[in-house]
Amino acid sequence: MKKYGIMVIGCGHIGSQHLENIYYRDNIQIVAVVDQDLDSAKLAARKYGALEYGTDYHKFLDDDRVDIVIVATYTSTHLPILKECVKKGKHVLCEKPIAATLEDGEEFVRVVKNASVKVLVAHILRHNKSYIKIGEMIKNGAIGELKTVRMVQNHHALESNRFSNLLKDCTPVLDCGVHYIDVMQWFTGSKICEVSGVGTKIDPTSPHYDFTIMTFRMENGCVGYYEAGWNKNIESQNMKEFIGTKGRISLVLQELRSNDREEGDLITLYDGESGEYRIINNDSTYKDMYGQVCTLIDMIENDTEGNPTIDSVFSAFKTACLAQKAIEENRIIKI
Ligand SMILES: NC(=O)c1ccc[n+]([C@@H]2O[C@H](COP(=O)([O-])OP(=O)(O)OC[C@H]3O[C@@H](n4cnc5c(N)ncnc54)[C@H](O)[C@@H]3O)[C@@H](O)[C@H]2O)c1
Repeated sequence: MKKYGIMVIGCGHIGSQHLENIYYRDNIQIVAVVDQDLDSAKLAARKYGALEYGTDYHKFLDDDRVDIVIVATYTSTHLPILKECVKKGKHVLCEKPIAATLEDGEEFVRVVKNASVKVLVAHILRHNKSYIKIGEMIKNGAIGELKTVRMVQNHHALESNRFSNLLKDCTPVLDCGVHYIDVMQWFTGSKICEVSGVGTKIDPTSPHYDFTIMTFRMENGCVGYYEAGWNKNIESQNMKEFIGTKGRISLVLQELRSNDREEGDLITLYDGESGEYRIINNDSTYKDMYGQVCTLIDMIENDTEGNPTIDSVFSAFKTACLAQKAIEENRIIKI
């Protein structure tokens, strides 16, 4: 079994989650961890057994022990780092969203399509067993025709520093919305064709809206909304509900269950005809970072397409950019 040498750039919130889930695996060696904050890099190196650490990733791009770079830095840095990695022949697992602007996102896709290395964008819900199960249930007709979707993902942003750094690049609807736009297009095989919404700055000093609600219409007639807010005055909430002509599916993540938490995520299927509820306890890791990196390894070894493909990534990204624009300009945008 080949052991893949990995460099992680960005040892913050999501960089640490990557490391936590991959550092002990048989086919992984953490070669280097990098953060512009030296203490963060040093701590991550000690915790996850990295061979090297530092504040500048450039020197490790020339290190033959590095096969894969995980990019877990701020969104606006993803494109420049991607370009350097590709130039140095390193495979890349890059955090979403691919960029902070539509233009940079278009360039990101061009770079990926012309690269001789493999690039996977981290749409982690594609690797989540509960989302995979719900997608299959919807496709198999468990709730008839999917008519509407309610999705909420609010963060009680006590770590205000982290969220204000993220807000310098884009709104929550672009940052997190790419996940749920991708989920909708993946579950239905249809495309979002119309976006609109509202937003506000709960914190008046925020560089972008820190609260957004995006509404959307799909080509297959399904409509829905995605609510995303990052502010310390908001309660954390994670609600996902899929409603069809025959019933409803809802998802409660394991950590948010009020009881039987040890059983995993709670998927509930309501049958509108009989009025019966079916409870499915689903063993699932919310962010299966190892499963995700194995998808990249499969792309490298077997020349497979990414999951999601770069075209699906771009479709979700472009839709999220247009949703952000629609909200900022207070209008409906057709895609
Ligand atoms: N897939 C997910 O579920 C998910 C969840 C959260 C964040 N993200 C994405 O991950 C990215 C990072 O978000 P976060 O929440 O981890 O932020 P964070 O602030 O916790 O971490 C980012 C880290 O990157 C470091 N950094 C920034 N630029 C750097 C550079 N040029 N060189 C070295 N280090 C650098 C910062 O010092 C910081 O420690 C964002 O694009 C965000 O949208 C994805």
